Amino acid sequence: MRIQSLPTQLVNQIAAGEVVERPASVVKELVENCFDAAATEINIDIAMGGARLIKIRDNGCGIIKDDLPLALSRHATSKIASLKDLEHVSSMGFRGEALPSISSVARLTLISRTEGADCAWKVSADGSEKDFDPQPDPHPQGTTVDVRDLFYNTPARRKFLKTDKTEFSHIESLIKKMALSRFDIGFCLTHNQKEIISLKPADTIEDKEQRIASICGSAFIENSVKIDFAASGLQLTGWVGLPTFSRSQQDMQFFYVNGRLIKDRLVTHAVRQAYQDVLFHGRHAVFVLYLDLDPALVDVNAHPAKLEVRFREGRLVHDFLFKALHRSLADLRPGEQQNAQVKVEEFIPIQREEPKTEFSVQNRVSGKQGAGQSSLPMNIAEEIEAYSTLYPAAEQVQDKGISVQDINHSDVKSTHGMPPLGYAVAHLHSIFILSETEKGIILVDAHAAHERVSYERLKQQYHSGKVPSQPLLLPLKIQLSSAEADLAEQEHAFFASIGFELNRTGPEAIVLRATPALLGREDMDALIRDILADMLAHGSSQRVLDRTNEILATMACHGSVRARRKLTVPEMNALLRDMERTERIGQCNHGRPTWIELSTADLDKFFLRGQ
Ligand SMILES: Nc1ncnc2c1ncn2[C@@H]1O[C@H](COP(=O)(O)OP(=O)(O)OP(=O)(O)O)[C@@H](O)[C@H]1O
Ligand SMILES: [Mg+2]
Repeated sequence: MRIQSLPTQLVNQIAAGEVVERPASVVKELVENCFDAAATEINIDIAMGGARLIKIRDNGCGIIKDDLPLALSRHATSKIASLKDLEHVSSMGFRGEALPSISSVARLTLISRTEGADCAWKVSADGSEKDFDPQPDPHPQGTTVDVRDLFYNTPARRKFLKTDKTEFSHIESLIKKMALSRFDIGFCLTHNQKEIISLKPADTIEDKEQRIASICGSAFIENSVKIDFAASGLQLTGWVGLPTFSRSQQDMQFFYVNGRLIKDRLVTHAVRQAYQDVLFHGRHAVFVLYLDLDPALVDVNAHPAKLEVRFREGRLVHDFLFKALHRSLADLRPGEQQNAQVKVEEFIPIQREEPKTEFSVQNRVSGKQGAGQSSLPMNIAEEIEAYSTLYPAAEQVQDKGISVQDINHSDVKSTHGMPPLGYAVAHLHSIFILSETEKGIILVDAHAAHERVSYERLKQQYHSGKVPSQPLLLPLKIQLSSAEADLAEQEHAFFASIGFELNRTGPEAIVLRATPALLGREDMDALIRDILADMLAHGSSQRVLDRTNEILATMACHGSVRARRKLTVPEMNALLRDMERTERIGQCNHGRPTWIELSTADLDKFFLRGQ
């Protein structure tokens, strides 16, 4: 086979393969061009999810007539001229590839007018980079790019397009993210001529927070703090969510480097580390953060769609992010963390001085578990209290005969009449249940144990048809994003099957009328939000059904959170009995042990009795 040069259109189609994955990627490239053209208003019109039409108009600097053919030619750009420029680039674009790539896989028309020009000029292109014939046009100052019939000439790619609705949802979420990076620009997005997003330029802090609220939901702004840190030429600004406003998915984490939304492992790692000691295991922080630094310190030419960057001094950036966030999070909860710390060693102080003494508790209590405990985000005593509010509700359900537990079977007794987990003596520090057993004593982490009990019960109830629910005396209104509210409405039946009765009451609101009888009543809005985030992340209903256990675990965890009083002895005994008839009771849903045992033999050895 001889070597031959490929036709230009094919070269551009190959390049398009890397950058133009779906309509949203076209929108990204075109809107970035508007940013670079110093536009202050951007209108994005979409038809049929973008497969039919993507039309983007800006009021930026425009392109002069003679440059129009170049704008549509590969490797022609106004943004850089040398390697040195590339190393300092602060514009979004720099490759001179987007327009020719797009024009090679769709029908593209470019109309543009510069300031002071007599008229605008219009050209069409097909990626072959010849026969440009600009025609005059009455378009005002600025540029319109009209992209029709995406992938009309590359059917293999067209096949991969999802439904209009899905494709449009990608565009919508992209525009929201881009709007968070440029408060100074107004955005208007329509789909099939219906206005979906309309944002005026935001100058003041209030206007900016208003924009954030309209994009991330007002709960985000209410539960976050504004931060501003600068050191060593790096600046970090933005909003970080309170640790208590965490989510089950990483779907509300926006990080911009010099205005560019990126996903970066170094950044993710620094943020996760900063949140580590305040965030409950498995939960994800929410934030909108802007890192600004000298463009020379970031390589933006590291990913075809520019979704990743490379920091020239990664270590420095990592440490800066970690410190800035860590400090702001520490400032959020003065003294609180101190209360939440659980020093498990206090219960067995001699352990370290008496290495000969061995008892089963030693490894399990010290080390790992201790560390896990002290990292709980909120006062544990608060969390535990949930149990007392839940437990009676659970019993009621049983009394009504709805319970799926076999009550006779539940009377687990040892041969001597003492139940295996014994009888409760005290609720230590409002955290641990001390129980006397036949063989010695046990300590139970009441919260962890209760979480497991609730989870197993919810699973049983769910699998036997429906999780029983109890009406709320006062229906609870919950503010959601419109996507979440859509989903809640759509999955009404699924919510009913897990014990929630809810109705849509507005574009961004639902009302909760009944909740699972097993759960407490606190924090129901956070729980609903988490379930919706899980569902949004897992996509189709079938996959949601496959993940029901995860959702039930989330519910059990929430159900076992927060409260303020010590458990009474009957409540503790009830929990112990429940534990005895619960599967997998040895660990809570997060894998931590729920209880430990010290036998009288251990205690004898410990106190050197009989020696
Ligand atoms: N909306 C616009 N307003 C003004 N000029 C534009 C606009 N869109 C494109 N241009 C001009 O057309 C050129 C080519 O755009 P294109 O997006 O193909 O490349 P780029 O932005 O330079 O680099 P990249 O491929 O990285 O996006 C730009 O360099 C710019 O001069
Ligand atoms: Mg560009």
